[in-house]
Order: sequence, then C-alpha cells, then structure tokens
Amino acid sequence: MADSSLSALPIDERFKPIQKLKEVWKNSIENPEEFWADQAKQLDWYKTWDNVLEWKDRHARWYIGGVLNASYNCLDRHVKTWRRNKVAYIWEGEPGDKRVITYASLYRDVNRFASVLKDLGVGKGTFVALYMPMIPELPIAMLACARLGAPFTQVYSGFSIGALAERASHTEAEVIVTADGVWRRGKVIDLKGIVNKAVTQCPKVRNIITVERTKHGVEMAEGRDIWYHEAMKAATERYVEPEPVEADHILYVLYTSGTTAKPKGPQVCTGGYLTYTCSTLKWAFDVKEEDVWWCFADIGWVTGHSYIVFAPLALGLTSVMYEGAPEYPDPGRTWRMIEEKGVTKFYTSPTLLRLLIKYGDEWPAKSNLDSLEILGTVGEPINPEVWRWYYKVIGKERCPISDTWWQTETGGFMISSAPGIELVPLKAGSATFPLPGIDPAVVDEHGVLLPEGEKGYLVIRKPWPGMLMTLYKDDERYQDYYWNRYPNAKEDLFYTGDYAVQDNEGYFWLLGRSDDVLKVAGHRLGTIELEDVLVSHPAVAEASVVGRKDEIKGEVPVCCVVLKVGIEPTPSLNEELRLHVRSVIGPIATPAAIHFVRNMPKTRSGKIMRRVIKSIVDGEALGDITTLEDPSAVEEVKRTVEAFRALYG
Ligand code: WTA
Repeated sequence: MADSSLSALPIDERFKPIQKLKEVWKNSIENPEEFWADQAKQLDWYKTWDNVLEWKDRHARWYIGGVLNASYNCLDRHVKTWRRNKVAYIWEGEPGDKRVITYASLYRDVNRFASVLKDLGVGKGTFVALYMPMIPELPIAMLACARLGAPFTQVYSGFSIGALAERASHTEAEVIVTADGVWRRGKVIDLKGIVNKAVTQCPKVRNIITVERTKHGVEMAEGRDIWYHEAMKAATERYVEPEPVEADHILYVLYTSGTTAKPKGPQVCTGGYLTYTCSTLKWAFDVKEEDVWWCFADIGWVTGHSYIVFAPLALGLTSVMYEGAPEYPDPGRTWRMIEEKGVTKFYTSPTLLRLLIKYGDEWPAKSNLDSLEILGTVGEPINPEVWRWYYKVIGKERCPISDTWWQTETGGFMISSAPGIELVPLKAGSATFPLPGIDPAVVDEHGVLLPEGEKGYLVIRKPWPGMLMTLYKDDERYQDYYWNRYPNAKEDLFYTGDYAVQDNEGYFWLLGRSDDVLKVAGHRLGTIELEDVLVSHPAVAEASVVGRKDEIKGEVPVCCVVLKVGIEPTPSLNEELRLHVRSVIGPIATPAAIHFVRNMPKTRSGKIMRRVIKSIVDGEALGDITTLEDPSAVEEVKRTVEAFRALYG
C-alpha cells in the first residue's frame, strides 16, 4: 500500500478535525431523496419532478416527471443575467492562437448550430457523432445537440477508424461533426481523412459537418459534406427553442473499454447527470463565481464532458480550454498558461504531472503560480511522490489537492476530498472520503464487507444521480457486468472494477483496476479489445495483451503474439502489427512491445494465463503456476521479454 503518512508535509492550519463533512454525508445517506431534491434545485426546470427516485431492476430513474433542457441550463439562464458578458471559455490553440468566448457568444453560436442540425433533420432522439479536437466548436456542437434533445456520442480524436466506425454505427448516428484536423506537438493530425474512411462502415450517416481548423486540404464529398463556417452563415434561425426533455432523456452515450472486445456504451440521463456534476464540482473544488477553472483533459473523455462542458457552464463559470500538448513548444507551456490566465483551480491527470515533472522544477519556477487555490487529479492512482511534488512545487504547500476517484459510468466525482464542504487532513495518494450521497465499500470476491486495511473490490451501495441508466442497447451486459458479480450479497452492489482499501481512519485508497482494463496515460483500454484487433490480422493466430508499468503513462500495452503456422516472425511484421493496432484503435493503443512466441502460457483447461505474462513483463515473481499446462511456454515468454528488455531497457 502507498505511504499514508502526512508527517513530511506541514499541515495547513485550515485542516481541522472532520466534522461538517461527516454530518452532511450522514444526512445524505439517511435522507437521500430529500438531499438530492435539494441539489436539483440549482437547475432550472420547466416542470419539477413528481418523485426524486425510482429504483427498479437495478435501474435508477431520477427526478421522474421533471422536465428540463441542458442547453437552457448552460446558456439561456445565464444570458438573461449579468453573466451575459461573462467569459465562458478562455481558449488557446496549440500554435498560440487565442479566443475569448462569452456566454452571449456561445449562446449565439449554439443557437445557430442547432438550427444547422435541425435543417439536416436532427431532432429529439436523433444521434449525432462528434469526432472533434479541443476547439470551441466542440462544446458548441454538444450544446446544440442537447438543445434539440438529440443525444450525441463523442469519439476521442486520438481514436482511429475502427473505433469511430464502431461507435457511430452502434448509435446509428445520422450526422458526424468533425474538424479537418488538429494540431498536436506542431503537427497536423488529419481527422477528416479518418472520418472519410470510417463512414464507409456507417450506412446511417447522411452528413458530415467539418470545422476548418488546420486548413490542410481535405476531401469533401458533394451532397454529404458541409463546411461548418458556411453552414453557420446560412443557418435559417438565430434562435432555436430548447426542447423540453424528461429528466431521464438520454443526454449522451460515451463508449468506454471493458472486459470484452466490444466497448460498453454508458447511457447518461439529463436531469440526474446535470445535478450531480454541478454538485460534485462545487464540493470537490469549492468553485466560486470569480474562479478561473482549468480542467486540463480532453472533452472526448468523460472528464471533459462533465467538467469542461456541462458542470462549469451550468454553474456559469469561466473555464480555460486548451487544444494541444502540455509540453509544447516547451515544458513551461502549462505553467505559463496558469499564470497568463490567472487559473485558480487546476485539475489534471497524474500522467500529465509525471510527464512535466520529468523536465525539472525550473519550468514551473519560471511562472508565477500564486493564483492557484485548489489542485486536482483524476484518471489513475496518483503516486505519493507525484502528489507531494504537486503539493509543494505547484501548490507551494498552500493548495489542497482533490484526488477525485470516479468513472465514465459514474458521471461525476465519487470519492474525493471536498473543500467545498470541509477541508480534511489530506494523505498523499488517498482520494479521502466519499462525497455526499455516495456509499462505497470494499468487499471480497463474494461481496462480503472487508475490515479496514484489507484490499478488496470497490463497490457502491446506493444509486446516485450521475450514474449510467444502462449500457446503450445492451441492458443484459449492464446487469451482468455491474450488478451480477455478487449473487449472494445481501444488497445490490455496483461493481466498479477497481481494487481499493479503506484505512483505519476511513480514508479510501484506490489501487488500480481489478479487471482486464488498462489505464494508458489515464485512458481506458481493454486488453481483449487489443487482442481482438491483433487476431484480426491475417498473420496472427493468438494474442495476449497485458499492461506493463510505465514511469510516465502509468501503464502501456505489451503483447505476446503467436503467429500462424508458416509465418516468419520478422521485425517488419512486428512493426506492421504495431501499426495495425494504431490504425484500428488509435495512437493511444500503440503497443509498447510485441513479443513473438511459439506458445502462450495456458492453464490445463486452455485459458491464457495473462497474470503470468503480466508478472514476467513487470519483472515480478510468478506466483502460483501449478495449473500451467506447459511450463516451457513460460520459459519462452520470459526469455523473449528479457531479451527485449536487454535491448531496449
Ligand atoms: C481509474 C475517468 C485512482 C479507476 C474519470 C477507474 C482512478 C477508472 C482515479 C475510470 C483516481 C479514475 N484514483 N484511480 N482518482 N480516477 N481512476 O472511465 O481505475 O476513463 O475505474 O473515467 O480510472 O476511468 P474512466
């Protein structure tokens, strides 16, 4: 377990015995309906709910009977007040171009874009797929969809053809919104080219709307393709009435990796999700009207959905949004942006911190970081030494850290310190306590509660408003994966797929995934998804993928591959397989190594022993291998991996 002592850190005098947080939490757990009804009042509803919660067949329906619109809550209600000219986004492109976007201008563009979509036949219930970089047109597109009651599915722009085609066709998206390209470390990534290839597998897509960003020249198909700027000019309406939708109307479906080859599509509701993301942002970051909030993540992931777009806008905050890489053109970029924009609350991933730490403390030292008040992290466990660096070098021992544990499925933060309620003594590497309304527990493989100090599986015992409604078009999998793990447990336990331990003071420590999901630079990737892609290559007979520890990215995929009989294991085939994975899933999935082996370590019943391969790859003890069918297979993997390590480190 990570070091839990705070003795190396001076305890800020603001840290006091935990009282208020416990009271608020206890009340929320004892009177959940009253508590969550109160929270929902921060939104504007066309009609208030009749019932706060209906819990049936492991599906939660929140605020039943309530009617609202997410775009109205993020825009209309602000432009009616002094916030009209408040800055919504301070945006910066990687090449250094800047845009300052007020609520009024965002409102204008969202209305126009809603009109464009409407003219293309998009309405309540029509799916739109978004494959966009971090440019202001992305939140504009999301809000325009929400305005029409059209659910969207967003595909991270670091994903490639296969991932995009699969997600757009599974939702039967009729329109795709994209950009010609994006800047990444000074180079153009051709997004439109990927969309053009992916749509050949998406028969339902009628139109592609392309934002001009990199102007590198892309192929546009007559009749199907539309330039965003031309469509905006030609929009027929300047105001589109927000579509009043039921609280449980789908806001979006965001696919995420799981333990099978097919990604899962958590389906997110409108009223519960919006309430939950707003409340959790207030609790974990104590956000105030005058804050400059920078959630440095990509909107293509849930972190950006919830905390770059919906919660900050619904709360009327000013956010920083950045297109590019954190260390481009030099490792001072991120810190400079904090100074220039006067960021007060900064939220990012341990991977990004580890990347920037590597360049030395002289880079943050060049910028004045005095504006910072609270720091946050998300996506993977934060190493205590990285936590301390963040606390000392960036926060100057003044800024508490909110280490927020949550998932795509949860919609918002679940376990995190909550300076917005009460600042508690922090421990480097612990996400601290559950937020109000959240009732997590650590259990064994039968769902039996474990005592403090014992590592087990993290489960959640009560529904919360941000939770997924189901998996899109796959309720059976929703039931199986999340709810049927512990058939003999006394109550419904939501399975998170994470290991955790609670220490003797009640603090939660998150210890990584317990299933076959990797966290590569904080991005979720299923090992089976990668194996499936490798096996789809004509040369491959069998593949096994595991995560290897990585100093910066946390984990990277390493593959063992058995080739088909008669195929030679050459370096060029190795490279071809790496590129194959890259082009189907995307650059984030590129294997760190592919090892050709003749046999895979298997149990006598024929199951690949991934655990054994993982131990070899991480250079750890093998543990129990008595069920192994052929010990020579282990020897071969060991030899291959060690030879690779000797060559490449
Ligand atoms: C991991 C990201 C430790 C965890 C918001 C979870 C974390 C998965 C933390 C979800 C944290 C997220 N400490 N681990 N603070 N936050 N995780 O769906 O394994 O991309 O299950 O959502 O990230 O990843 P996802």
